[in-house]
Amino acid sequence: MLGSGFIGRFYADSLQGQRSRDKIVSIYSRREESAKKFAEDYNCDHWTTNMEEAINHPDVDMVCISLPNNLHEAAVLACCKAKKAVMCTKPLGRNAEEAQRMMEAVEKAGIFNGYLEDLVYTPKFLKALQSVKAGALGKILWAKSRETHPGPHSDWFWDKEQAGGGCMLDLGCHCVEIARSFIGKDIKPVEVMCWADTQVKPIDAEDHAIGLVKYENGAIGQFEVSWTFRGGLDLRDEVMGSEGTIWLNSFLRTGFDMFTTGKGADYVAEKAESNSGWLFPVGDELNELGYNHMFADMFNAVEAGKAPQETFYDGYVVNAILDAAYRSAASKQWEPVKLPVWRGQEGVQKEKALTSYNDQFYLIKEEMTHFGSQKLILKDKKTGEIIEKVL
Ligand SMILES: NC(=O)c1ccc[n+]([C@@H]2O[C@H](COP(=O)([O-])OP(=O)(O)OC[C@H]3O[C@@H](n4cnc5c(N)ncnc54)[C@H](O)[C@@H]3O)[C@@H](O)[C@H]2O)c1
Repeated sequence: MLGSGFIGRFYADSLQGQRSRDKIVSIYSRREESAKKFAEDYNCDHWTTNMEEAINHPDVDMVCISLPNNLHEAAVLACCKAKKAVMCTKPLGRNAEEAQRMMEAVEKAGIFNGYLEDLVYTPKFLKALQSVKAGALGKILWAKSRETHPGPHSDWFWDKEQAGGGCMLDLGCHCVEIARSFIGKDIKPVEVMCWADTQVKPIDAEDHAIGLVKYENGAIGQFEVSWTFRGGLDLRDEVMGSEGTIWLNSFLRTGFDMFTTGKGADYVAEKAESNSGWLFPVGDELNELGYNHMFADMFNAVEAGKAPQETFYDGYVVNAILDAAYRSAASKQWEPVKLPVWRGQEGVQKEKALTSYNDQFYLIKEEMTHFGSQKLILKDKKTGEIIEKVL
């Protein structure tokens, strides 16, 4: 494990949780006391303040990168040198160029690479994706994802140089991959329109952003992200298809409501702002946030010699979409997504879903009126005239 901070500990809780046979055998942390404390807390035999020493440790089969964004690339290159399988937390790079270099390095070294995007592994997301893939929603038209909270917990996130951006990179990477997964990862993202601003925090980067991502097949992805939201961690997705809808609420108001005066109150859930009054705890945070399914996929894949659901290539595509979002926020125009490497479908045409009613008409809509009759709205195929018919 590289990094003993917030996500390193969440990952460790998941990796060594329940009856897991997976074990953290070496921890690298910048400061000796954090490395020692982590080693103690997770019963880990080896700790070090030298990153390469941790990676090269003979018992290490796989490296998990839980370091600040500006340190991902150096850690990945060290794994390539040692020819060790690697998993890297999100965002893969601070921009697509950095992400592409990392992707090319692991592929050249021929090592396993997994992109740790937990929010496409939550139980609700996996079930929703299964329904989408089975066609329950028909053709996917719009996929929206929202992640907002009152802001991150460490200094480096707020420094544009170390983090690579503000809330749009930090949280948008989750939202973009959620929408992209629902729309289809082989469908090319083509253009982005984005608003981003610094509304509240005294920082150089954006603390609030909303963006639209256009896909080649005509579907639209939407992200809403903020570091200025009050009230906890809001994680919600909406998917709209020609045959159905899915709404997911992953964190607040999930059916577990609790009131307390605050007596005896402790940790409630990630980024909860209060521990008194009405609260929305989360039953099993590690599972609800996708960490368990994510690591199961990573280890199953490495053992089977296959690629996991999320690879460095996915991290690179996400970075490319967000780079276009940053350009759009500056130019106030739709900006093209630049993908020098693209492995999905090319030239997908936008389909028009016209439903034929009979030889003369298309069906626009069919409904039951409040007075119990069936009503049809039809369009004449030749003249274009729109009529209604009560049966
Ligand atoms: N849901 C998620 O997937 C999720 C959630 C939070 C963070 N993250 C990602 O995890 C990474 C780490 O974030 P975090 O929240 O754990 O941050 P953190 O600040 O809590 O921990 C970062 C770790 O890196 C170490 N570190 C900081 N500066 C260093 C330096 N210059 N050299 C060596 N080590 C240094 C810190 O000591 C600490 O151990 C980031 O890339 C972040 O985007 C992912």
